[in-house]
This record gives sequence, structure tokens and C-alpha cells, in this order.
Amino acid sequence: MKAYTKQDFPVADIRRFLEPGPIVLVSSARNGETNIMTMGWHMVMEFVPSLVGCYVWSENHSFDMIRKSKECVINIPTVELTPKVVGIGNSSGRETDKFARFGLTARPGTEVKAPLIAECYANFECRLVDASLIRKYSLFVLEVVKAHVATSPRYPRTIHYRGDGVFMISGTNSSRYRKHFRPGNL
Ligand SMILES: Cc1cc2nc3c(=O)[nH]c(=O)nc-3n(C[C@H](O)[C@H](O)[C@H](O)COP(=O)(O)O)c2cc1C
Repeated sequence: MKAYTKQDFPVADIRRFLEPGPIVLVSSARNGETNIMTMGWHMVMEFVPSLVGCYVWSENHSFDMIRKSKECVINIPTVELTPKVVGIGNSSGRETDKFARFGLTARPGTEVKAPLIAECYANFECRLVDASLIRKYSLFVLEVVKAHVATSPRYPRTIHYRGDGVFMISGTNSSRYRKHFRPGNL
């Protein structure tokens, strides 16, 4: 296999290559108010307990809603919801009821007060379990305490942000390399 020809690349833009986990919608509730934000910067941190690290910018209305209620739901939208995902990311819950404006259905969770978004493929109810990195990095360490996942399709068409207004839509799956895996890594 031949080596790639490369050029210098701005370090501030390398996120374009690292970001493409699915874009998620994070819903929250506090003092009778609900909200939704669009999020691309998240990472799995542990299997058991099921930990996810999320970057929430301090200027976002969701920042205090999640920090103070210590709860949220990570919802996984599919490609049909892309216009709403962008609209939710373009607006702030300070001025808008995003469930009403974007025609999304809030369903109660079982473990947290934050609502699930019914139109999303999966909903992960989360509790804030470590707030120590919020001040320095705006990093919320969340534990998924309950997960609701659609029965089909098995592989949803999720959207993955590549920066500069470009989404990659998940497509082809391959099990071709599965036999080479160490079982513990599956
Ligand atoms: C594709 C996309 C990805 C985004 N990723 C993040 C993110 O990872 N963290 C974040 O704080 N804001 C992110 N944003 C911006 C927020 O969604 C946006 O600021 C939103 O309006 C916040 O809503 P709120 O003020 O109601 O909380 C993203 C926006 C878009 C469109």
C-alpha cells in the first residue's frame, strides 16, 4: 500500500478528522423548563459504569441546566432529522422552547427528569457523576443509567459532522475483519 503525500495542516482544524462520532441531541430539564442542544464533541470513557465525556460550551443555555440538574439525556438522531439538528444547534433555549419549535415529542424517562426525544433512534438517560473537569475544560463526565434503543433498523443512518457544514451519513457496514479481533476487543 502506498504512503500518502501530505502537507502541513492547521492544528485547530484536525477536529474534522476526529469528530465523526454521531451527532447527538442532548435534552435537559430544570425548574419546569426543558431544552435541547446539538452536540458533536463526546467520547466513551468506560464500559462499566457506562461513562461518556461531553463538551458543553459554558455560553450554552444547556450548560447550567445540565450542571445544576446533574442530569440529561443523550439522544441519537438519524438523517431525516438533520434540518432540525442544525436548527437546534443554531438557536438557544434561552429564547426558544425547542421541543415546540422543532415539533419534537418529549417523553418521560425512568431514571432522570430530563425528557427523551421520541423521534430519535436511541435515548440514553445520564447522570452527571464527575463535575471536576467542567470549570477547566467544560467536560461533563456522565454515566448512562438507562438506555432505550429502537428495535430496528439494526444500523441506523446516523449523521457525523466533518466541520464546515458537511455531514457524513453512516452507510456501508462490513464484518469482514471481525475474525481478526481479539474477543475482548469486540
Ligand atoms: C453540528 C453541531 C455540533 C455541535 N457540537 C457542539 C458541542 O459538541 N458542544 C457544544 O457545547 N455545542 C455544540 N454545538 C453548538 C450548540 O448546539 C449550540 O450552541 C446550541 O445552540 C446550544 O443550545 P442552548 O443554548 O439552548 O443550550 C454544535 C452545533 C452543531 C450545529
